[in-house]
Amino acid sequence: MPVQLKTLIPLFTAFILIFLVVRHFLIPESFGKEGHYRYDAIAMNADKPLNYAGKDACAECHDDQVLAMESDMHANLSCEVCHGPGLAHYDNPDSARLIIPDQREHCGLCHSYNANRVDKITQIDLNDHNVEEKCIHCHNPHVPWEIAEETSPEENL
Ligand code: HEC
Ligand code: HEC
Ligand code: HEC
Ligand code: HEC
Repeated sequence: MPVQLKTLIPLFTAFILIFLVVRHFLIPESFGKEGHYRYDAIAMNADKPLNYAGKDACAECHDDQVLAMESDMHANLSCEVCHGPGLAHYDNPDSARLIIPDQREHCGLCHSYNANRVDKITQIDLNDHNVEEKCIHCHNPHVPWEIAEETSPEENL
């Protein structure tokens, strides 16, 4: 055997042994139980508290808003994208109130000009489009093309 191997073989053997020992301690217990993943992760994630209820849940009490929204360009939005996570409100409507996002900046989260989304969502310039007023003064947030007829900016700022 070449003389170099006399030192290399024990060295490699030691490396492999250390690798196996370290591997043994680093791999989580349930890894590989069902497949190439940590099996306990499923239960851990399933145990996380839920926050969102979903549109069907809102419809149980707010079918007016749900139906209205279906009729216009916001049909594909979820209720909770604007009103925030609603499960607590669903369980307890009177004590757990939801956000009413009535500021221009909120609509701007999706509609304020951004070159990346011009093909997806109609973009406007927040600094140019009827700047003095709240969006919902004119646009019904659930039915955005339902434009309010009377406008009196002072009341709605
Ligand atoms: C079990 C019936 C029920 C369900 C389900 C329900 N709500 Fe409500 N919601 C109410 C009641 C009752 C009020 C209070 C009305 C009031 O006091 O004016 C309310 C008020 C609201 C308000 C106005 C809050 C305010 O401060 O003025 C919003 C927004 C709202 N709900 C959104 C939702 C959304 C979104 C969902 C689905 C995640 C939902 N609700 C599910 C019963 C329900
Ligand atoms: C684009 C954002 C947006 C979405 C999506 C949205 N809302 Fe609203 N919602 C608002 C705003 C803003 C108001 C306040 C309107 C006002 O004060 O005139 C409001 C008001 C309400 C109110 C109070 C009563 C009323 O009609 O003014 C209820 C109840 C409500 N929303 C339920 C819902 C439900 C249920 C859904 C899903 C079907 C939904 N909302 C989806 C923005 C939204
Ligand atoms: C979570 C994202 C989101 C928010 C927040 C949001 N919108 Fe929209 N909006 C959309 C999408 C998606 C459409 C449909 C796609 C499109 O723009 O053509 C739409 C469509 C519209 C349209 C019709 C555009 C057209 O080309 O016909 C108007 C008007 C509008 N929204 C106004 C508002 C107003 C006012 C608010 C705030 C109360 C608001 N939106 C908040 C996502 C959003
Ligand atoms: C004074 C009333 C008024 C206010 C306030 C207002 N809008 Fe409009 N909006 C209109 C009218 C009318 C149109 C249709 C004519 C036009 O395109 O200017 C329109 C058009 C739009 C469109 C479609 C633009 C297009 O190119 O087709 C979007 C999106 C929109 N508004 C979102 C918003 C948002 C978001 C806000 C708040 C930041 C807002 N609007 C505030 C009256 C208003």
